[in-house]
Amino acid sequence: MKRLRKAVFPVAGLGTRFLPATKAVPKEMLTVVDKPVIQYVFDEARAAGIEHFVFVTGRNKGVIEDHFDIQDELQRTLEQRNKGAALDILSASLPEPGQTSFTRQQSPLGLGHAVWCARHIIGDEPFALLLPDMVMQDDKGCLSRMVEVYNNTGGNVISTEEVAPQDTYKYGIVGKGEDTAGGFKITEMVEKPPLGTAPSNLIINGRYILQPEIFSILENQQAGAGGEIQLTDAMLTLAKEQDFFGFEFKGRTFDCGSKEGFIKANVAYAMQHPEMATSLRPELLDLLAEIKPAR
Ligand code: G1P
Repeated sequence: MKRLRKAVFPVAGLGTRFLPATKAVPKEMLTVVDKPVIQYVFDEARAAGIEHFVFVTGRNKGVIEDHFDIQDELQRTLEQRNKGAALDILSASLPEPGQTSFTRQQSPLGLGHAVWCARHIIGDEPFALLLPDMVMQDDKGCLSRMVEVYNNTGGNVISTEEVAPQDTYKYGIVGKGEDTAGGFKITEMVEKPPLGTAPSNLIINGRYILQPEIFSILENQQAGAGGEIQLTDAMLTLAKEQDFFGFEFKGRTFDCGSKEGFIKANVAYAMQHPEMATSLRPELLDLLAEIKPAR
């Protein structure tokens, strides 16, 4: 079994749900408290032992590459001013030289197509895939937990979690089979099933460990739900040839692709932030009591 070393981050999306904020700033660079969304997902991957970080970008996403690079002028100024704490924060967020690759998804053809764009950089080895919209709060990290499952099972492992049945149409949904070490066998996968037709209320929540054979399937994958080339459809084909396991994530997930999820993520991370947790909590409660919802 090949060790998991690489991770893919599809970051080409336009972020239309956050306009005008995302007109000039990629949605992955919006901040949750004091870090851009993409940093949380990068940190989760690094904590799981990932050594190479592959970003599938698009036009207007250059600032993501800048974010994961040294800012020389800033660095020198902080050094001259003896700003040790700020320098530590910067160095903690940085990959090592040579650990990142950037490629472009030239047309917005769907998640399956974005993943396929990383095929040459991944090569013939398993890889993790992390969707940056989904920010996960958990002491150990969702991907680290999945790696534990993967080390027992091999094959492909995807993370899932329960949602209310009326929300299943927004996601990829799995069917749950028998339990295995730390997970379960996947019996079915369907992308954005119409209401009332989902095989369960377990959604694919944006973390995957996949074998490289997915790329040759994606090569010929026809458009599916929403007219896009869907990763879920390709995974269903791969599941006929290889083991496919589900892992049920029990931590907190914030869908930062939606405004509500993004606000909730800010509150949740602020509540864990050493500088503000204690003082902010009563202030937030007062604010909520004071402000009447707009009609
Ligand atoms: C994608 C996947 C879907 C998954 C979701 C999680 O959909 O296609 O299977 O459940 O991410 O956020 P998207 O949100 O890009 O429509």
